[in-house]
Amino acid sequence: MKFFVDTAEIDAIAELNELGMVDGVTTNPSLIMKSGRDILEVTKEICDLVDGPVSAEVVSLEADEMIAEGRKLATIADNIAVKVPLTWAGLKACKTLSDEGNMVNVTLCFSANQALIAAKAGATFISPFIGRLDDINLDGMELIADIRDIYDNYGFETQILAASIRSVNHMSDAAKIGADVATAPPAVIKKLADHPLTDAGLAAFMKDWEKTGQKIL
Ligand code: E4P
Repeated sequence: MKFFVDTAEIDAIAELNELGMVDGVTTNPSLIMKSGRDILEVTKEICDLVDGPVSAEVVSLEADEMIAEGRKLATIADNIAVKVPLTWAGLKACKTLSDEGNMVNVTLCFSANQALIAAKAGATFISPFIGRLDDINLDGMELIADIRDIYDNYGFETQILAASIRSVNHMSDAAKIGADVATAPPAVIKKLADHPLTDAGLAAFMKDWEKTGQKIL
């Protein structure tokens, strides 16, 4: 499973990128707002830093304007994936922009039918939002499994980009189901390395090592 980082914070992306943890980046209007940065400038910096796809989201609601915005975002770098919402206008924009050779990430997906129609429209990535479904007592992970089945049944090449990930369990569950990509905040990615038994085991080893009086270096 590829790891995308769900943030527009350059320092956080750079830190994880140095460890080889960043296969791509996703942003959205809220993340751009939180960064306090200009969308074109910060997206360019992210694209310079990361080799993989960098999602940058359009903000118009009409197809023609989305297409114009998408074309402009795509000029930032070769690794831009234009992000469009899962509306009819967004699907029209998806079809046009993907026919023009751009990567397109269709976002705000909350049902299997939405994922099916995005694949028909030529989406490179479909972004089902797990956490936001869990927030309203629905099962976000069940949606990932349903989309996996549907795409595999028909050989759709659209990649399942598990989004709105809030916990480490979301990451392992998405990986078990076979999501192609998971996008998560930097804090969740960092927590993947944590385990209390690792901490306890290491503390015990250090205590015993001290008793030997030895040094390696
Ligand atoms: C994905 O592309 C979205 O930017 C993101 O995962 C949304 O996450 P949230 O529901 O935690 O805001």
